[in-house]
Amino acid sequence: MPNTIAAITTNVRSFLWNNLPWLGNFVRSIKGNLNKFEGGTDHVPSQVVDVLERYSQLIGDRNFPVTGKVCLELGTGNSPDIAFLMLLAGASRSIMVDTEPFMKVPFQEGKEYEELVSYLRSIETDRIKFPQLTAHLNGVDLNEIARRLEYVNYDGVHLPLPDASVDIIYSKSVLEHVREPAQLFQELRRISKPEAIHLHIVDLRDHFHIKDDNTVNGNWLEFLEYDEEAWARRCVKTHGWCNRLRLPSWYPIVQESGFAILQENIVRIPLPTQSLPDTIKSVKDLDAAWWWVLLQPQGSKT
Ligand SMILES: C[S@@+](CC[C@H](N)C(=O)[O-])C[C@H]1O[C@@H](n2cnc3c(N)ncnc32)[C@H](O)[C@@H]1O
Repeated sequence: MPNTIAAITTNVRSFLWNNLPWLGNFVRSIKGNLNKFEGGTDHVPSQVVDVLERYSQLIGDRNFPVTGKVCLELGTGNSPDIAFLMLLAGASRSIMVDTEPFMKVPFQEGKEYEELVSYLRSIETDRIKFPQLTAHLNGVDLNEIARRLEYVNYDGVHLPLPDASVDIIYSKSVLEHVREPAQLFQELRRISKPEAIHLHIVDLRDHFHIKDDNTVNGNWLEFLEYDEEAWARRCVKTHGWCNRLRLPSWYPIVQESGFAILQENIVRIPLPTQSLPDTIKSVKDLDAAWWWVLLQPQGSKT
């Protein structure tokens, strides 16, 4: 019975988004989540540490020096914290790029990071191997570090950086939002130094089914059921648009742009209980909800 109700709910919802998109937006505006920014770390220290721990797992036992490195965060959203921590750990530059000017906080003032730094001091940081923070938490001038942060908005494809100029590139919950992933990856390869390291955390779930506690509800693959136009309508006035690439589609993009995968973690979750259309059911790795990947330019010597 619950399965039947869930199937009816999904079908009704798909029907409404395909035919009466304004109704969906109206309901969402009443519920107060129109234009809600979803999936970000929101400048919240515990969420920032959660991301650092995920990056650390990917890095594993590798030597990962940050000192003197040029770092780039792709799609910072409204949380400059990891970029700040890169400078704290000795990076020479820490650049953030995004297609939208989400950053509204005065992120170049040290007081913005006091809470984060005291949170890091208060917890066991053994699991955070990146960016080797623990040595740098005391006696630093937060204002001096914050002032060195760089933030640039761009068109989503043409990265405003010279060839072979960046050592470390990282992103969390961004690649699934990129409109031209193959082109962007060519650009990422262009700006990467030959020994550069990339850390990307990709969220492969329908963002309209992600709850505040970051788990999913209902049919977390529902977005695969819309055609391009209906999906675009569904996303009007939200930040929920995703390119909807499933995991197997990412491999050729990464490899054809000249990167090798050094390590990947695939977080799988149970498929939705709702019955999925046959065209979707046959897709490989459908249950992959998160893809964490560590990349390096092919042929790199480290
Ligand atoms: C879900 S948010 C994640 C923000 C942040 N990484 C976090 O975890 O808090 C996705 C971000 O990716 C950005 N974005 C989308 N396409 C992009 C692109 N081609 N290049 C850089 N950022 C992009 C969006 O503007 C948005 O800030």
